[in-house]
Amino acid sequence: MTSLHATAQALVAAGKGLLAMDESIGTCTKRFASVGLAPSSETRRAYRELLVTTPGLGDYISGAILHEETLVQKTQNGTPLVQVLMAAGILPGIKVDQGTVDLAGLPAERATEGLDGLRERLKDYAAAGARFAKWRAVFTIGAGLPTAACIEANAHDLARYAALCQEAELVPIVEPEVLMEGSHTLARCQAVTDTVLHQVFDQLHTQGVVLEALVLKPNMVLPGLECSTPSSVDEVAEATVACLRRAVPAAVAGIAFLSGGQSSELASARLNAMHLRRSGSALPPWPLTFSFARALQQPALHLWASAPANRAAAQQALLHRARCNGAALRGAYDPGMENQ
Ligand code: 13P
Repeated sequence: MTSLHATAQALVAAGKGLLAMDESIGTCTKRFASVGLAPSSETRRAYRELLVTTPGLGDYISGAILHEETLVQKTQNGTPLVQVLMAAGILPGIKVDQGTVDLAGLPAERATEGLDGLRERLKDYAAAGARFAKWRAVFTIGAGLPTAACIEANAHDLARYAALCQEAELVPIVEPEVLMEGSHTLARCQAVTDTVLHQVFDQLHTQGVVLEALVLKPNMVLPGLECSTPSSVDEVAEATVACLRRAVPAAVAGIAFLSGGQSSELASARLNAMHLRRSGSALPPWPLTFSFARALQQPALHLWASAPANRAAAQQALLHRARCNGAALRGAYDPGMENQ
C-alpha cells in the first residue's frame, strides 16, 4: 500500500493536475472528424506524441491517462511514449473500462463494461509501465433518471474495478460522471451527484477499497446544457464544493474533475473559484484538481488539425491551458491570462 499511497499523493501534488488523453477509438474519431482529421492508428499516435512531448508539461501535469493503444506506441524516433512521460516527471495511467452499453431493460441508461478478464489485463498494464488506472461510469439526468438500478449497478462496478486495481498495485481513478445533457437545474445536478457519490462510497467501503490510495474524478455540479436558468461561476463552485464535502470521505487522496464539455475558459474559472473558497470552515479536506481531456486539449487539437507542421503552436496551446489550470489551483487564474 505504501507505493500506492505515494502514487495517489503524486497525482494530486500541489499545483498539478492530470491530462486525460485516453479517448476511445470511437470518441477520438469523433474529435478528429470535428476538426477535419481522418482517423487512423498513426494519426492518433502522431497527435499523442505531440501532446506528451510538449516542453514544460511536467510543470503542471502530474499524470497522463492513456488509451491502451497509446501505452505501447512510440515516438517517430522510437522512444516509447510511456518513457517520454516518465522522463518529464509525468506518471502514465491507463483507461481500463471498455466503454458503455445500454442497461438491460433501461435503454436510456448505460452500464460500463470491462470487468471480465480485468485482473489479467491489469497485470499487463502494470508491466507496461502504468501506475494508475481509470474507469468511467455515466449517469443521465431526466424524468425519473437516473434510476436506482443504474446507480447501484455502476457504483458496484466502480468498486469492483477499484479493488482489482489496488490488488494490482495501480491507483484507481474512480469516475462517476453525471452528464450535462438535459434541461435540469444546478440544484437537480447537485442532488443527483450527491446520491451517486453516496452509493459509490458505500460500494467502495463494501469492497474494502483503501480510500487513501484512490482518486475521485467527478463532474462539477452544473446546470444542464438546456437549462434556462444560468448559474454564475461562484454558484457552480459553491454547489460543487458543498456537494463533495457532504459525500466524499476525508480519507480520499484527492479529487480531480473531468471537464465534461465545458469550455476551456469556464472550466478554469470554475476550478479557480473553488480554490478562492478554500478558507475557514469551507476548507475541503482533500486536494481539488483537474483531470481534463477536452478543456486541456481542444485548442491544441484545432491548431494541429489546421497546420500539422506547426507543432510548436499546438504545444504552446496545450501548455497554456495547463498553466491556466495550474494557476486556478492557487486561486490565481484570471481571464486576462487568455490574452497573454
Ligand atoms: P473531459 O474532460 O473531456 O470530460 O474528459 C475527461 C475524461 O477522462 C472522460 O472520461
